[in-house]
Amino acid sequence: MTPEELEDEAARPAPPAYPAITRAERAHGRRLAAIHDMYRAELDAVARMLEAIRSQGADAGALAPAIEGTQLSRNLARFGTACGRDCALLQNHHDIEEQWVFPALSERGGAALAPVIRRLMEEHRVIHRLIGELAEAARDLGRDASASGFETCAARFTRLDRAIRSHFGYEERALEEPLGALRVPI
Ligand SMILES: [Fe+2]
Ligand SMILES: [Fe+2]
Repeated sequence: MTPEELEDEAARPAPPAYPAITRAERAHGRRLAAIHDMYRAELDAVARMLEAIRSQGADAGALAPAIEGTQLSRNLARFGTACGRDCALLQNHHDIEEQWVFPALSERGGAALAPVIRRLMEEHRVIHRLIGELAEAARDLGRDASASGFETCAARFTRLDRAIRSHFGYEERALEEPLGALRVPI
């Protein structure tokens, strides 16, 4: 699956209906969106940092001369650190889903829910790849705050940001009822 295919809404299976779901169960299922909101806020903060650096004129041309020891160089390194932190947070969130949430959903949701879980796992694999690529660029930028390193890191952050937001949206819509009705702890 490519990052473009990940965003293909038409290819995403719908969950089965749970007509007997209670208000309390639905409220429980909505907790996943609330958890995602925390990660979205983290991504927003890094996106703002990226915008701020760009507005300081930190394009590749302006950075071509040595920037070592400047405020800009420190900001680039901070951006690298923030990207690395987001990678670790997102990886941790997906590890929890894969180790605890998805297995419980599979067990309790049966064949009707299986296509949704399969699709979410495929999306996770794409996102893991994007996390790995960003983490690598973030590490490089932390070591050497260069213009090209910043551009690579920024492009990879933007790509991951887009994919993860699309994934979060599908996941919280598709799992709200199953998480609640099947009483899966999150
Ligand atoms: Fe997920
Ligand atoms: Fe998630």
